[in-house]
Formats: sequence, structure tokens, C-alpha cells
Amino acid sequence: MSILIMSDTIESTQSKCMKESDRSGAFDHLFTATVQDQIGSTGYGDWRLVSASDAVSLGYGFPYPSSLPSDDLVTVTEAVLADEGEHVLQYGGGSYTEQLTDFLVERAQSSDIDCDPSNILLTNGGTRAIDVVCRAFLEPSDSLIVEGPTFMGAISVFRNHGVEIDSFDVDTDGLDVDAVAEELRTREREGREIPKLLYTIPNFQNPTGVTLSLDRRNRLLELADEYDFVLIEDDAYGDLRYTEHELPTLKALDDTGRVVRIGTFSKTIAPGVRTGWIIANNEIVEALRKLNAGGTNTFTRSLVAHYCTTGKLDEHIEELRDVYEERRDRILHALETHMPPAAEWTEPEGGFFVWVTLPIHIDTEEMLHDAAENGVTYLPGSMFFPTDEGSNSLRLSFSYVPLDELERGIAALGRTVRERL
Ligand SMILES: Cc1ncc(COP(=O)(O)O)c(C=O)c1O
Repeated sequence: MSILIMSDTIESTQSKCMKESDRSGAFDHLFTATVQDQIGSTGYGDWRLVSASDAVSLGYGFPYPSSLPSDDLVTVTEAVLADEGEHVLQYGGGSYTEQLTDFLVERAQSSDIDCDPSNILLTNGGTRAIDVVCRAFLEPSDSLIVEGPTFMGAISVFRNHGVEIDSFDVDTDGLDVDAVAEELRTREREGREIPKLLYTIPNFQNPTGVTLSLDRRNRLLELADEYDFVLIEDDAYGDLRYTEHELPTLKALDDTGRVVRIGTFSKTIAPGVRTGWIIANNEIVEALRKLNAGGTNTFTRSLVAHYCTTGKLDEHIEELRDVYEERRDRILHALETHMPPAAEWTEPEGGFFVWVTLPIHIDTEEMLHDAAENGVTYLPGSMFFPTDEGSNSLRLSFSYVPLDELERGIAALGRTVRERL
């Protein structure tokens, strides 16, 4: 991925991160080959610095700031410290620490996932969960399958493991599972290695917002069984659904223990609590536990446990659904009003994102500069592919900016695209 070149209207990734010209390279010979390969490339999180002073920032996939439940977190912090202060701050934590596992078990069971505490591993967030699964299964030069486009944080983790990343198209029904099946058949016929892992975001995918159909969920499970690989189901947005049409999770459909399900409280409580989890077969969980050095932050975990078990999480999710549904409707309406007919976009049933596809000759990385001058920023589609694809697409996030700014942002985007056409 190349670094975005911005004018002075946009704070560029280069202005805050170390410039290539400032590097002395004094430690290069000590770095691992993986780090050496990535020196000079854009790192995960650098894109957060892409902003322009007066532009509407549709790039940030962050929760809406005033939705973060600070008051409730103050209340639970006081309650937990008053109740178990000494234990909760000590190694190992107190009784609240375990309550979070029990809460997750109950929640999983209520969605038809066969689960007990031995199937749960708490982690410091969803991205860390992906990393620990990779550490258990992947050696450098192994391969894995992802959706193209996919969550850029996951691409970055996979790159850190030095593996070959094969991406497959996504359409309105999610990952193109037939194309994956075809590739697996070909690899088997040619005696090539079968990937050990397949990473999917089945609900309201980041970045496209699409949902994997039931048929394809079942087909993926059959393929995992037939070709002997593990499915990573990252359901970061599953609770943020704005329609009634709920599909069973891959883990609920999993009869053979091949699904490793990942969740996070980053979107439903706050990214700052850095608390996520894994639900998997207990042999897998045992292996992962050994690698999860340092454990989790027992203090935060206790606060999250108290927040969840006192019913605050469920109430908050209900509120979030209303807030984000209105934003989703507003951005889709604005797209209808302001985009030229040559543009296409997805219509998500949940989550934070809309994916826009423009005519093939429009390069959205180049266009970002003009867009910022016109009053909007977004993330170029190329950031979400492990390959050189996606140059004519872009991701819009409707989660972060105030509701009444969405229309101004999309009007600016429509203007920018028309100028390019
Ligand atoms: C699909 C997906 N998984 C995981 C995460 C990150 O989760 P966490 O903040 O818990 O690391 C994100 C955040 O953007 C995401 O979009």
C-alpha cells in the first residue's frame, strides 16, 4: 500500500509519522525480516491521520463520540472498586473477572452456540484475537484466504506473520464461496498447499457492509471440513443490526469445531476498553491460552463484566441501533440525491460502512486530495486489499460524524466524482 500524498489542506500520514528521509536505519540489521519488509510502508493506524480541517471525515470507522458511555463507566468503576478494590487491581483479578466469561457463555448459548467457559478466551480486543489465532496456526510462508476487500487491521496482522494472503471477491451476498471452492479444487489437483485459515467478516463486513448469505455460510463450513482448514469468523459488528433479518452465526452452524469466532466490545462499549474474546473448540482455546502471554487487563475486564451483567450493555446496544440506523438511512438517501448515475454503492443492514464503486478510470487515492478541498474525506478502496486492487472504490463510514454533516459530506463527494467524470 502506498502512502497517501496530500497537500497542506490534509494532514498527511507522512507529517506525523517518521519521514523516510529522517531514518538512520541504525537498527535495520537487528529487525526481523518481516519488519524489514515493512519499513517505509504505511502502518496500520497511520490512516487515522488522514484528515482535512473543514472536511467531513467519512473515513473514520469509529463509534459516534457522544455514544461512548462515560457516565455509566464511572458508575461501574466506583462500584467495582468499592466492592473488590484490592482484588480487582491485583494479579489474577477478583470475582468480576470470571463473570465476563460467564456472561459471554450465556450470550453465545442464547444464539444457539454450543459453549461453556472452556470454549472462551478473553483478549485485549478483536485485533489481538486475530493475532493470537494466527500465532497458533501460521508459520511464515503458509497461506490463508481472505475477502477482498477486508478489514485493513487484519491484513496488517497477516502481513506481520509473513504469510501468503489470497483474496477472493465479495458481492452483495458476501464472499464468493464458489470462487474459493474452485481455487481449493485446483490446488488439490495440482498438489499445492491448502490454506490453513480462512478469515471472514460475515455480518456487515468492514469495509463493504455486506452480509454473507445463509447458503454461503453452509457452503463455507462444508469446504472447511472437506479441505481441512479453520474458519475465523470475525463478528465485530454483529450486534449492530438495523433489520430483523438475522442469520445464524458460522459458529452456531459449526458441527465440527472448525470455526474460531471473534468478538469485541470496541463497537458496542468503547474501543478504549480493549476487550475482545474468542469462542472456539476447547483444544484450540487451550493452545491459544498458552500463547496469550500476559493475559488480559483484569481491571478493565471487571468493569466490562459489571457493565454487561447489570444490563447496561443490552440497553446501550438498543440505543446504538437506533442512532446508527438513522445515520445509515441518512447517508443512503444522500447518496441517492448527490451521486452521479455511474456510481454504485452497497446498502448495509448493519454496521458502520458503505462501499462505493466508481467507473474504473477513477483512482480514489488520487481523488482524495480534490475531495478534501471540496469538503469530504474517505478511505480509498485500495487500503482494504492485500493486492493492488480496489483503486476505483472507497469506503464511507457513517458512524462517526454528526448526523447533520453526512449530507454535506456526500454532496462534496458527488461534486468531486462529477468533476472526474
Ligand atoms: C472487522 C473488524 N474486526 C476487528 C476490529 C477491531 O477490533 P478491536 O478494536 O477490538 O481490536 C475492527 C475495527 O475496526 C473491525 O472492523
